[in-house]
Amino acid sequence: MVCLMNLKAKITLYVSFLLLIVIIAVSYNIFVTQKKILTQQISENRTRAFKSFVSMCNEAIKVKDDIQVNHAVELLVSTYKPSVVYAGYINSNNVVMFASRDEDRNMDSVLKTRIKQTNKDYIEVYPSLTGEQICEFATPFFFNGENVGTFVVGFSQTNMKEQIDNGISMMLHKIKIIVIVTMIIGVILSYFLGYSFAKPIKKLTNAAEQISKGNLDVEIKVNRKDEIGKLSNTFNNMAKQIKELDSMKDSFVSSVSHELRSPLSAIDGYCDLLIECVNNNYSKEQELKGLQIIKQATVRLTNFINNILDLAKMKANKLEVKKIDADVAPIIDEIVTLYQPLATQQKKRVYSEINGNIPKINIDVEKIKQVITNLVSNAMKFTKENGSVGVKAFPTSKGYGDDYIEIWVQDDGVGIPKQQVDLVFQKFYQVHDGEFKRPKGTGLGLTIVFEMVKLHKGYVWAESDLGKGTTFKFALPK
Ligand SMILES: Nc1ncnc2c1ncn2[C@@H]1O[C@H](COP(=O)(O)OP(=O)(O)OP(=O)(O)O)[C@@H](O)[C@H]1O
Ligand SMILES: [Mg+2]
Repeated sequence: MVCLMNLKAKITLYVSFLLLIVIIAVSYNIFVTQKKILTQQISENRTRAFKSFVSMCNEAIKVKDDIQVNHAVELLVSTYKPSVVYAGYINSNNVVMFASRDEDRNMDSVLKTRIKQTNKDYIEVYPSLTGEQICEFATPFFFNGENVGTFVVGFSQTNMKEQIDNGISMMLHKIKIIVIVTMIIGVILSYFLGYSFAKPIKKLTNAAEQISKGNLDVEIKVNRKDEIGKLSNTFNNMAKQIKELDSMKDSFVSSVSHELRSPLSAIDGYCDLLIECVNNNYSKEQELKGLQIIKQATVRLTNFINNILDLAKMKANKLEVKKIDADVAPIIDEIVTLYQPLATQQKKRVYSEINGNIPKINIDVEKIKQVITNLVSNAMKFTKENGSVGVKAFPTSKGYGDDYIEIWVQDDGVGIPKQQVDLVFQKFYQVHDGEFKRPKGTGLGLTIVFEMVKLHKGYVWAESDLGKGTTFKFALPK
């Protein structure tokens, strides 16, 4: 809990901090750029005002209309007050037309002394007597190639700084509001971001805790498609597999104990009986019967252990496969013949049916024998009296895109419920349905069939009708 809170808080803190850094960097950038733009704008305004002043006076000077020039000088000062401190024009006869922003006469006469003739443009910054920084623009005026006078305008640098400061403080105020609003939204969003990460992780942790306590029925509800969704799905699959493994372990333990205990107790019991036979001189038939039962029990034990070993080898890809080109018909006939006495004894029919011309195929004969034997043994086991078991083989290319041999083991026995048909190939799986009492086995026979067919790059599947019978089919490539 503490850890998850930390994660949420950490994400909120990191994201907010990152946001703050970004906001500061962006604001600083805006601040510097804005200052540059304002300074540039004011400079451009000054140049424009000075140029329009000069062009206003242009015609008046040509016709020597001093009143008009004087008027333009005064108009410039009154229009651009307080930015323009003074403006003036001095003609070639040193007559000065002058206007000033301030009404101080002394100051006027001091500033008037700045109006001097010049041959070229200049811009000069200097401190006035009042301490105000002034930026002076001056330009000579030529008429018919002759310098007929000079225009001079003094702009206030102090006023320019005030304008920039005002602009910047207004902008800072706006930035402040934007920063506060963005930070509030950012903190809220990062909190939800942290929450959306922490919540599924909390669910995962709880589920993992449940599994560690042995409760394997956990499932995390997933309704997102991102990495966390994928992680939750993987977790659910993992939990499902642990559950399957757990039930497999239970089946294994119960199969192993049953399969070991029953032949062992048969061996034990019949050994006692044999000892008694020897001690009490019992008949030879009784001794033989005891030995046969011991033999059957040891065969059953050996088969079980071999099955387990084979499966382990198959899982580790260590099972040796010795393939040769062989006919399947004699293999089928051999197995059917082998089951004939048992079928007669149990009043069942077992037969083979070879259809078409089956070519030799490349197989491990012993393994394919084991596959057919396991299927026939099941069919016999799950068929009632008077039932029949048929082993059929025929060549086909239907649905495979290549030539295959299909072998069917068909019975008219108890069948398998539809929803369990595909499960029977799982390790230790035993079909359960209320209707028929089924003989118990280890549930390894069909797993071995599946793995061996896979080793031959073939396919195996089952079709069944409950109460009517089952057909196990497998196909091997030619
Ligand atoms: N022909 C069949 N008809 C009906 N049910 C079948 C048939 N073949 C298999 N089954 C069902 O599938 C289950 C699994 O079969 P599988 O051969 O793997 O194990 P088993 O026969 O129980 O034990 P063993 O390891 O000794 O073969 C059986 O327990 C049985 O319920
Ligand atoms: Mg079996």
